[in-house]
Amino acid sequence: CGIVGYIGTENAREILLKGLEKLEYRGYDSAGIAVANEDGVHVFKEKGRIAALRDVVDATVDGPVGIGHTRWATHGEPSRVNAHPHQSETERFTLVHNGVIENYEQLKREYLPGVTQKSDTDTEVIVQLVELFVTKGHSVEEAFRQTLSLLKGSYATALLDKRDTDIVYVAKNKSPLLIGVGEGANVIASDAMAMLQVTNQFVEIMDEEMVLVTRDDITIKTLDGEVKNRAPYTAELDASDIEKGTYPHFMLKEIDEQPFVIRNIIQKYQNEDGTVHLDDDIRSAMKSSDRIYVIAAGTSYHAGLVGKQLIEKIAQRPVEVHIASEFLYNMPLLSENPLFIFISQSGETADLRGVLVDVKKKGYRALTITNVPGSTLSREADFTLHTYGGPEIAVASTKAYTAQMAVFTLLAVDTAKASGIELDFDPIKELGIVANAMEILCDQKDRFEQIARDYLSVTRNCFFIGRAADYFVCLEGALKLKEISYIQAEGFAGGELKHGTIALIEDGTPVIAIATQEHVNLSIRGNVKEVAARGANPCIISMEGLESEGDAFVLPKVHELLTSLVTVIPLQLISYYAALHRGCDVDKPRNLAKSVTVE
Ligand code: G6P
Repeated sequence: CGIVGYIGTENAREILLKGLEKLEYRGYDSAGIAVANEDGVHVFKEKGRIAALRDVVDATVDGPVGIGHTRWATHGEPSRVNAHPHQSETERFTLVHNGVIENYEQLKREYLPGVTQKSDTDTEVIVQLVELFVTKGHSVEEAFRQTLSLLKGSYATALLDKRDTDIVYVAKNKSPLLIGVGEGANVIASDAMAMLQVTNQFVEIMDEEMVLVTRDDITIKTLDGEVKNRAPYTAELDASDIEKGTYPHFMLKEIDEQPFVIRNIIQKYQNEDGTVHLDDDIRSAMKSSDRIYVIAAGTSYHAGLVGKQLIEKIAQRPVEVHIASEFLYNMPLLSENPLFIFISQSGETADLRGVLVDVKKKGYRALTITNVPGSTLSREADFTLHTYGGPEIAVASTKAYTAQMAVFTLLAVDTAKASGIELDFDPIKELGIVANAMEILCDQKDRFEQIARDYLSVTRNCFFIGRAADYFVCLEGALKLKEISYIQAEGFAGGELKHGTIALIEDGTPVIAIATQEHVNLSIRGNVKEVAARGANPCIISMEGLESEGDAFVLPKVHELLTSLVTVIPLQLISYYAALHRGCDVDKPRNLAKSVTVE
C-alpha cells in the first residue's frame, strides 16, 4: 500500500490523486482520499484503480488538507468498505495506514468491545483507539501516542481530526514514510516520487517516531516524547523518468532501456583508466568475509542465484542465496564471519527488512544492492551499491533484474582483484558486448511476438527448462510469464523435469528450452527430446556457436558467465506479448504490487 498527505493552501484533492497515481505500483486494488475544509472531512473511496476513485470523487469538493491511500489487500478483501481512509465511530477521526497491525484482534477485544467495526481491516482499530483515548480526556496527540504504543506490527499512518484541520498526525514503524517540506505546504508520502509535484526536499522518519505536520512546520517526536531535529535531503529523481512517453506500457519501455542501463552502470563504476574499483569499505567487507549470504525476494532472488555463480566463479568465495521470508524464520547455520547482501529493486521489501534488522542486531555487516539509494534497506545497511536503473514502474521487474546482475559482475571482479586473483575476464568489455546484444534483441520484437503467438496463444501452462546458468533464467522466465499473462508456468532444471513434473506434459504443451551453456548443450537437447517424445511443443532458444537446426531463436554470443543478462530479454518479450494477446493488464497484473511493504 501507499499513503500520501497534504497540508498547505492549494487544492489537496488533485495533489492527493496525482500522488496516489505515482504510488499505484505499491498496490491498486482499492483507493481513497479524505479532503478537509471548513465544512468537514470528505471521504471518497472505491474498489479498483485510482482511475475508478477519480470517477467517484466529487470534483466540487475542495480543501487545503487531505490524506490518501492506495491499497494492496492484506486483511479484508478488496472492496469499498475495506478501502482507506477509515473513520472512527463518530467520524471525528479519519486515517490511512500502510502496514499490518498484528495484534488488532486482541486490541479490539481488550479496548473496543462495544465499538462496531465498519470494515474487516486491521487498520480500523487504530482510528477507533484514538477516538477512545480522546473520549477518555486525552489530547489528540496524546491519544495518538498511546494508540501507537499499543500497536504491534508495521505502520506508516496519517490521521486527520475534523475539529482541527490545521494539523496532520503522522507515525511510522517499519513501513516506509517521508515528510516533504515545501513552501507554505508540507506533504506526507510513502515514496518521494508521489510528492515531487510539491517539493524535492524530504525528511526521513525513523521507526517508532510520530510527526505533527502543519502548513509551516513539522515536529518529529519519539514515542517517549523526545523531539528530534532532522534536516531534509534533496530527492534526486527526474519526474520525466516516471512517464511512459510514446510506449504503450512501462514494461516495454523498461525492457528497451536495458542496454542503456548496462552502459550507465559501466560508466558509473568505471575508473578513468578503464578498470573497475568499488568502494574500499565494500571491498574490504567482501574480502574479509568467509561466506556471503544473499537475501532477496521474487525477481531479485533470481538475480541473486546468478550473482552467486558470478561471485563463486570469478571471486572464488562461497555464496548462499536465500528467500528473505524463509531466512527470517528458519535461519541456517551461519559461518564465522558472514557478509549479507540484500538485493532489492525497491529497497523497501518488508521480508528483507526483517532479515536486515535481525542480522544487524547480531552485529553482522550488510550490503544492499538496490535501484533506490535513499530507500530503507539502503539507509539501514552498512553499504550500498546502486544499480542505476532509473525508476522501474511496471510491476514485473525487467531492467532492475539485469542491472542487479551487472552490478554483481562488477562486485565479483572487484573482489577477485582485491584477493589477488588473476582474471582473463574484462567486465567492462564483456558487459559492453552484453549491452549490444540486448539492443539487437530489443530490435527484433516481432520475432518474439510471433513466438508468443505460436506457442502461448491457447495454452494453459508452459515449462521452461535449462541447465546450469540457464536454469536460473528459466525460473525468471516462468515468473515473468505467470505474473503478467496468468499462464501457469514453471522453470525447471533440465535434468529434474523427468523426476515427476514430466507427468504434466501433454500433446502440445509448450516447453521453452534455453541452450547457452556449452558444457550442458547436449544434455539440455536430450531433455528436449524427452519432452518432445511425450507430445510437448518445444521452443529452443540457443546461442551463437551452440545452435542446431530447428532452434526457434539464436541469441548473439556473449561471455558464458553473462548469458542470463541476454537470455532473459526474449523471455521478457515473450511474456509481454503473451499477456498482451490475452488482454491482460501488463503493467498492473492482478493481485500483485511492485513493492510489498508487509511481511
Ligand atoms: C514484489 C514484486 C516482484 C519483486 C519482489 C521483490 O513481489 O511484485 O516483482 O521481484 O517484490 O521486490 P524488490 O523491490 O525487493 O526487488
